[in-house]
Amino acid sequence: EKGGYEHFMIKEIHEQPKAIKDTMTSRIMMDVDEVKLDDIKLTKEDLESISKIYIVACGTAYHAGIVGKYVIERLAKIPVEVDVASEFRYRNPLINKNTLMIVVSQSGETADTLAALRLAKEHGARVIAITNVVGSSVAREADDVLYTWAGPEIAVASTKAYVTQLIAMYIIALYLGRLNGNLSIEEFRLIRDEMLKLPEKAEYLLNQKETIQKFAATHYVHKDMFYIGRGLDFAVALEGALKIKEISYIHAEAYAAGELKHGPIALIDKGVPVIALATQEELFEKMLSNIKEVVARGAHVISFAFEGNDDISKVSDAVVYLPKTLSILAPVLSVIPLQLLAYYTAVERGCDVDKPRNLAKSVTVE
Ligand code: M6R
Repeated sequence: EKGGYEHFMIKEIHEQPKAIKDTMTSRIMMDVDEVKLDDIKLTKEDLESISKIYIVACGTAYHAGIVGKYVIERLAKIPVEVDVASEFRYRNPLINKNTLMIVVSQSGETADTLAALRLAKEHGARVIAITNVVGSSVAREADDVLYTWAGPEIAVASTKAYVTQLIAMYIIALYLGRLNGNLSIEEFRLIRDEMLKLPEKAEYLLNQKETIQKFAATHYVHKDMFYIGRGLDFAVALEGALKIKEISYIHAEAYAAGELKHGPIALIDKGVPVIALATQEELFEKMLSNIKEVVARGAHVISFAFEGNDDISKVSDAVVYLPKTLSILAPVLSVIPLQLLAYYTAVERGCDVDKPRNLAKSVTVE
């Protein structure tokens, strides 16, 4: 059942190229100048009345939501607020019929997410669900459903569900941007063409494991790890830190790199592992400075950047180069080595990778 792999998690990490492809199939196609979304019945007129979007979810799905905010605001120019479902449902959020809510849930059964969905519906909002389970509670109660086609995810740590949730976010952003006219056809084509190349690039990345394995083998003994990035890299840093916490039980924190000076840099000491993401082209130089700052305090840095950014090797102990894509699509690729880092670290520590302590795959009670 594990298809020759030692754990479900590593099997599911390897299924990502296919999951990405399947989630795009029949929605985003070569030479087709529109997103085909038969599943979503939102019209141009409906969209004109939408003044705000809430993305609500828990855990990894929430992290996909943070990427969703960046991407929808950038491509469709609609204000987006992202919230964890357990906060959203108790804070009297401002919801009305001009609100569009996107809930994200792999299982479609998470109690808080479902409660947030119901709250939004009571206040007249329209709800789109992104879920991986056909016929799940979230799927049944939402107005529209966009299924991720990740296939069953068994490991508690979410991997392939996350990348397909990202793809769903890009699909929605492209769709909304074209529907309200804020996304030009040229930019649409550029993003579409690059999206279609992602499965192949993810596959390539899965074959570049040595640097990650080596870093895991030398740093698994640490008690703390820091993940830093800017923009979309910060969103991915949050997900990377969650992954290592839940399966290897190492305390990890993600920071927006620009925040280091506002406190966390005090924690950087000799030998502390820092995972630095530097995929965002316009923020690359700023990330280099942040990396230098932590290196000056003795941090051991593993960096993630696109091929061609060789400068980063001068300031890092190890570098994983990602095959080039658009900055906006980088999360789909950069998360893969972070999943692998969490996996190999957990294996080194002898942890129960697929069933980490205290956690359940689906949190159906508050
Ligand atoms: O099924 P859901 O997507 O609603 O689950 C949400 C979270 O419980 C889930 O993503 C959790 O954070 C994972 N264990 C993360 O790997």
